[in-house]
Amino acid sequence: MKEISGNSFVLYGDICYSETKDKLFTKEGGYLVSVDGVSMGVFDELPEEYRSLPLIDYGGKLIIPGMVDMHIHAPQFAYRGTDMDLELMDWLSEKTFPEEAKYRDTDYADRAYSIFADAMRRGATTHAAIFATKHKEATELLMDKLEAVGIVSYVGKVNMDREAPPELCEASAEASARETVEWLEAIKGKYKLTKPILTPRFIPCCSKKLLDRLGEIQIEYDLPVQSHLSENQGEVEFVRRLAPKSAFYGDAYDYHGLFGTEHTRGKAVNTIMAHCVYSTEEEMQRMKENGVFVAHCPASNINLSSGIAPIRKYLDLGLRMGLGSDVAGGHTDSMFEAICDAVQVSKLYWRLVDQSAKPLSFAEAFYLATRGGGEFFGRVGGFDAGYELSAVVLDDGLIERPMALSIKDRVESAAYCALDLYGISAKYVRGVRIA
Ligand code: GUN
Ligand code: FE
Repeated sequence: MKEISGNSFVLYGDICYSETKDKLFTKEGGYLVSVDGVSMGVFDELPEEYRSLPLIDYGGKLIIPGMVDMHIHAPQFAYRGTDMDLELMDWLSEKTFPEEAKYRDTDYADRAYSIFADAMRRGATTHAAIFATKHKEATELLMDKLEAVGIVSYVGKVNMDREAPPELCEASAEASARETVEWLEAIKGKYKLTKPILTPRFIPCCSKKLLDRLGEIQIEYDLPVQSHLSENQGEVEFVRRLAPKSAFYGDAYDYHGLFGTEHTRGKAVNTIMAHCVYSTEEEMQRMKENGVFVAHCPASNINLSSGIAPIRKYLDLGLRMGLGSDVAGGHTDSMFEAICDAVQVSKLYWRLVDQSAKPLSFAEAFYLATRGGGEFFGRVGGFDAGYELSAVVLDDGLIERPMALSIKDRVESAAYCALDLYGISAKYVRGVRIA
């Protein structure tokens, strides 16, 4: 048994987490034991050895795992919910790139990232994979703020050396690589919760030479990778022209060892690809072989009119997968919204596109937002013994009703009624209360 230290406690309340991808575990009046940031499991009655621990009584409230946002752009939080009439490539050039250019100014970045970090503290998200901008100073500032807030995150300084306006485009592949190495050296050993992730923006913005250098940096620093993949039809067509020798979009990353597997040693590279709306069969197979994670971002797919990712197919194939808010393609950082959007778009896909693609159940979408994405971070997203103790306590009594509901129904209603915006009583990350 693990020795019990000072940072150990018991949470009491109505507990819910995903046991498997379509099965919710629920326990009314359960005890969730946290020893040094690690769950010892959920109990009907508190075992003898934990009876001396402080007990925090959330009786009548819901206790669920923290949400895992697999894909969010911190600099875009500032303009969330604006200019939602554009499609991806125009939205990038008319809105996103001019906004991101502002992060050269560290005073502006300081203001914007303070607001973002505070939102990450207050919401239900406990783990996130985050894009910054190309600017290494602002990216470090963002990492400082996230570390202070206490969520677990991967943060990427973005790489982009072509197809962007001069104020945002990096001068050359070599300059982009050099800045990346300088950023990595500057933050080395600096944080406990906040880690770097290699972040080529997407193939249109990254020359072959840059991807080559990033492949080398990945090996040298043993970094995870995040990027965008097959999001929009115009984008996919553009990639076909830019990388004619690639068998498919993802192959252009894979050639450089940036798609789940290092080529030289065959070593796994923890990799997230956001969107995957238009992935071909070949691309899906490669993602499966290489263990690439799909970040499904339904709000963004709707707002940018990108399309609907074939999520049922990915689940059936056994792809690793989670959900992303993709702010500001997505208009909100609420992962409860992402859960409901994922269910809703899957229903439209089933009704309008493919009648054999069964819609997602609530349990499946909840799984994706917790355990599914949590796998990228380790033993995250559940309360099984040995999992990280990251939890959100919800006061769903704020959703008034005349009758009693099952815990499953209460959690579903909390998601649909956006309780993460106004009903979070407490949030714990690795056994530390941060909100
Ligand atoms: N593809 C390249 N950059 C971006 C971005 O910032 N947002 C989204 N949704 N897709 C992208
Ligand atoms: Fe994105």
